[in-house]
Amino acid sequence: MSEPSNAQLAESLLAFWADAGVDAMLLDAPVDRIAAGRIAPPQPPPGRKPATPAPPRLVGAPVPDVAAAVAQAQALAAAAGDLDALAEAIAGFEACPLRYEGATRAVFSRGDRAAPLMLVGEGPGAEEDQRGEPFVGRAGQLLDRMLDAAGLTGRVFITNTVFWRPPGNRTPTLHEQMICAPFVERAIALVKPQMLLLVGGASAKSMLKKDEGILSLRGRWFEWRSNDGKMELPAMPTLHPAFLLRQPVAKKRAWSDLLTVAERLDRPDRPA
Ligand code: URA
Repeated sequence: MSEPSNAQLAESLLAFWADAGVDAMLLDAPVDRIAAGRIAPPQPPPGRKPATPAPPRLVGAPVPDVAAAVAQAQALAAAAGDLDALAEAIAGFEACPLRYEGATRAVFSRGDRAAPLMLVGEGPGAEEDQRGEPFVGRAGQLLDRMLDAAGLTGRVFITNTVFWRPPGNRTPTLHEQMICAPFVERAIALVKPQMLLLVGGASAKSMLKKDEGILSLRGRWFEWRSNDGKMELPAMPTLHPAFLLRQPVAKKRAWSDLLTVAERLDRPDRPA
């Protein structure tokens, strides 16, 4: 039997990765493999002159100027007078590096626009990227069933700490979350919920500015404060439904967190 060619080996490795769920291969910074001599530049057909080189094109994520991006997000968010304007501002916002890492669209929100509870997840996944709505994949379906069982259907506004799918569903970075935070805060100001449900470690840590893991944060009430200190709300971190799909025994802890939230919503004067 003849040895497989390099192309066949590469194809088989890519198929293995695809089966394992790897659907993006990106580095933090672009690599010009032609300039590095690893790949030969495309040659013109025999007898034709080489084409004039195209101007350099930006490949991959631009290195973010976080402070400038945050300032731009703040200005756009502040100018949005309602949730439709905010959704439009997010869709047109170009300074979040996640935009350039394979996401097909901005994913902002779904749910009741005057909800007493705002749920903040981590970031959109593949299904959300396709459909343009947060929490619509398998994890979202589990979340919906849990919200329903806790009597919270129709009383929740759902969004995420970032609005573009991180490649390969990686956790969003703190910088990406900082850049999107002014939009999240503006959503909170417009919806005016009574409390927040922070779903998953990446959401809880960035919203509460805490370093602890989700297993220690969950189930406890915290006071969320906006970056300008003008808004404060009770916030409950809980386990992410994607984690619950992998660890079904943890469901009872998330369930207990949801019931605690539902109970406080129904009796807002009750001390935590
Ligand atoms: N996970 C999240 O944190 N958010 C979504 O919208 C989907 C999956």
